[in-house]
Amino acid sequence: MGLLENVEAELSAAIGAAVGDEGHHDPLLRRSDFADLQANFALAMARRLGTQPRELAAKVVGRLEGSKLVRDLEVSGPGFVNLSLTDAGLVAEIADALRSGAPFDLAAEGDRDVVVVDYSAPNVAKQMHVGHLRSTIIGDVLCRVLSHLGHRVVRRNHIGDWGTPFGMLIGQLSAEGLGPDAQLDIADLTDLYQRARTRFDEDPAFTEEARGWVVKLQAGDPTARALWQALVTQSARYFNEVYDLLDVLLTDDDIRGESSYDSDLDDVVEELDAAGLLVEHDGALCMFLDGFTNRDGEPLPLIVRKSDGGYGYAATDLAAIRRRIRVEGATRILYVVGLPQNLHLSMIFAAAGAAGWVTPEHRVEHVAFGSVLGDDGKILRTRAGAPVRLVELLHAAIDRADHEVRIRHDDWDAQRRAPVARAVGIGAVKFADLLNDRRNDYRFDLDRMVATVGATGPYLQYARARISSILERARSEGMVADSAVAPDVAFGNDSERALAIELAHARRTLLDVAQTLEPHHLCRTLLDVAGAFSSFYENSPVLKAEPPVRELRFALCRTTEMVLESGLDLLGIRSPDEI
Ligand code: ARG
Repeated sequence: MGLLENVEAELSAAIGAAVGDEGHHDPLLRRSDFADLQANFALAMARRLGTQPRELAAKVVGRLEGSKLVRDLEVSGPGFVNLSLTDAGLVAEIADALRSGAPFDLAAEGDRDVVVVDYSAPNVAKQMHVGHLRSTIIGDVLCRVLSHLGHRVVRRNHIGDWGTPFGMLIGQLSAEGLGPDAQLDIADLTDLYQRARTRFDEDPAFTEEARGWVVKLQAGDPTARALWQALVTQSARYFNEVYDLLDVLLTDDDIRGESSYDSDLDDVVEELDAAGLLVEHDGALCMFLDGFTNRDGEPLPLIVRKSDGGYGYAATDLAAIRRRIRVEGATRILYVVGLPQNLHLSMIFAAAGAAGWVTPEHRVEHVAFGSVLGDDGKILRTRAGAPVRLVELLHAAIDRADHEVRIRHDDWDAQRRAPVARAVGIGAVKFADLLNDRRNDYRFDLDRMVATVGATGPYLQYARARISSILERARSEGMVADSAVAPDVAFGNDSERALAIELAHARRTLLDVAQTLEPHHLCRTLLDVAGAFSSFYENSPVLKAEPPVRELRFALCRTTEMVLESGLDLLGIRSPDEI
């Protein structure tokens, strides 16, 4: 347990004693401009108890005299409590982080989940677009953070590999005389898709033929299967190139495409029907769920089986959620999918609730995100107006980073620059994506993203590299940078204290991320820590200091290094030793 949690526990106990109720009380700790922290519990509690908030706050303050963790408590405003952390508490926190080697608190044993994370989910025979980029980056961070906290994470890549488009793709392949061993890269595949689509829309005979292929595919016809498999395999090769470039955890083992639920679909219908949840509507089997209406206020159907007997996107998602809970044992499911699919997912969640698959013990959440915009403030497009291709975007970022690295190190050759440019370029794109509240749109501005100044990934990479080199130098000069801090050492100046406070806040940040599913809290924390380190380093010479101050400063450096290193790693961002 970290310092802030201990402070919370102390406050909670003091509140309990003041009101004569031993249960848990949440003191709602916030940062404050006037003190280290502000507790905000008295207003709401006093209202409930019918007492004065300031009086209640004063009682709690009285009970905390002599605390080893907090000092200078003061009732402020209508009933807030301002408080400062003691130096001894902060020093012990740093020592504890170093001793355990863990800068972040983990989830309590009893709170650990089996979390299925549904993310990335590109479509076969199509380019990944920027929406898939966001899903992949955000989902990857959530997987890393949740598993670091101790949860069991099941990654699921719900690729679009089933349904009507495959009839037309297979039809087109066979019309062009292409067999299962035709070598098609992603550009060939997207062209094929275009040709198939055009014919499908314009040529009724082809439309019929394509429908026939869908039926054959679902019936397991060997020719249809082989062609389909070729499409999937070749697309997956391309997806993996993108995942490699992005440094994300996804592998082929995580793929559970829409097709993998095909065998469950009849059972799903049977089960929903037996529960009396299906209604026939224009020949289709539908669910009507409470609270879902169209613009005219009419009930909105969730189509489980289409009038032609085929299954669509919704049916697959129903089968997926059912399997995730029943077979995979999920207690929490995250769908990292763009905002526009909120209605679809909300209906799936409601349907799964009605079917009794999702119960109040399960948390099922849409981790929605906004769009990426270009310079003109509109959805990012190429100059020709086409949606931007992911790989091109990433290579552009690496090129830009290479340019920056060349400016900083004119003596480095291309080979030496390459890994750094890659780490910086990709790190820049990921950090810029993760820094904003995910629900917001953001502007894709490469120049700003790759800069080593400002709120950027490269700034953090730079900060981490600098601290590591300071420590490295100290060690090479024979200084013992790793000895323990004396527990009674006092801070010599405010910048040391300010850094220690940021490190104490950082300790809880992953728990926040897991709760809110908002990676930007981790990004902000790392920026705060790096910023506090900067002014610490300006104001507090480390190598020239005398013990025990020197040990304390080394300890602050090492804890900062640990937070930045581990934090960047959890964001899926590399941190090279020189940038
Ligand atoms: N393949 C879909 C698309 O590109 C995203 C799938 C998201 N996941 C899900 N379970 N529906 O829009």
